[in-house]
Amino acid sequence: MLLGVNIDHVATLRNARGGIEPSVLEAAKICIDAGANGITAHLREDRRHIKDSDILSLKNDLKCRLNMEMAATDEMQKIALNLLPDACCIVPEKRQEVTTEGGLDVFSQQEKIINFVEPLNNAGILVSLFIDPDEKQIRAAAKTQAKYIELHTGAFSIAFGTKNEQSEFLKLKNAAILAQSLGLKVNAGHGLNYQNVSRMREISGIEELNIGHSIISKAIFTGLDKAVKQMLDLVYIY
Ligand code: PXP
Repeated sequence: MLLGVNIDHVATLRNARGGIEPSVLEAAKICIDAGANGITAHLREDRRHIKDSDILSLKNDLKCRLNMEMAATDEMQKIALNLLPDACCIVPEKRQEVTTEGGLDVFSQQEKIINFVEPLNNAGILVSLFIDPDEKQIRAAAKTQAKYIELHTGAFSIAFGTKNEQSEFLKLKNAAILAQSLGLKVNAGHGLNYQNVSRMREISGIEELNIGHSIISKAIFTGLDKAVKQMLDLVYIY
């Protein structure tokens, strides 16, 4: 399985101060140097974390696979067709949500998604549809010409360690089997962390996991000690 690191929350932190620190590009470089297989960034309509300049510099200044998450809007399609990221993951977007809450409803807007995917495919961008592990959605996704789906692992992540873990896990496993039988390639992500991620290895054929929040959160604790020591070196008068 490959790992795409979702870098959005480095931008969230930067935007909290409105300055240039921490740098999204620097963070992405560290992820790639550490062995990540790609960078994922969600350009939201409200630009609450990743901004246009971030996605541009990730594309131009970082030699790695870039997966741009975006809503199925004309604005985003235009940006993607200009930018030509390696991949686009189409997600639903609600202004009020804290993070992407549910999967894309491909079933009830199949025609719209088909039309949305076509120019991206023609431009050589690998398109994935972020959907819940739901048979109806998978069958609809298979009719859109998107090559990938990304299974929404949020419900599994919430259920992890509870009596519902296995049933949510089986939904993902069966969804992956069905999708592959219909010719779709399968990625997964959302809410995966250091505790629950190993269960994804029990699902054969998942190509890539996209993980953000838990990695950025972990980085605070693995890096804080070093950061304090470096500051102490500057502050202490020996
Ligand atoms: N995949 C998709 C489609 C997402 O929208 C997100 C969250 O932006 C992720 C993966 C990563 O989720 P998390 O930050 O919970 O790891």
